[in-house]
Amino acid sequence: MKIGIGNDHSAFELKQVIAAHLKAQGHEVVDYGSYSAERCNYPEFGEKVARAIVRGEVERGVLICGTGVGISLAANKVKGIRAAVCSEPYTAQLVRRHNNAQIIAFGARVVGDEMAKMIVDSFLAAEFEGGRHQMRIDMISEIEEREA
Ligand code: RB5
Repeated sequence: MKIGIGNDHSAFELKQVIAAHLKAQGHEVVDYGSYSAERCNYPEFGEKVARAIVRGEVERGVLICGTGVGISLAANKVKGIRAAVCSEPYTAQLVRRHNNAQIIAFGARVVGDEMAKMIVDSFLAAEFEGGRHQMRIDMISEIEEREA
């Protein structure tokens, strides 16, 4: 799978760990930055990965900042994007199965390397179930349309 990854300064090290983990599994990883631990602003990287998904450049996204919250909030401002913050693998699986999230987000100051790998693995392995869940996602899209 082609996966976009993005982070801020607080998550630069964990981003490298996760990118290597995904590559070792045979995934293609596109790194949208940041490319160092120098202080930067998470909205830039949340938006970059979200727009790459909308363009069809990558199929899924992984976003990491200190908590996962700021970078996911930015990604969710891009129309059609569902980015979910998860701190454990159960929720990471359900955001695919029920919410059809294209992006998983987590915090480098919240989860350790091994938990982060499990979160990403659960997210990527799960499929959207459709059915009643699609109807609820359509309701979210309608909110987005009303805001436009
Ligand atoms: C950066 O210090 C921090 O605020 C950011 O990584 C993130 O946690 C924001 O949600």
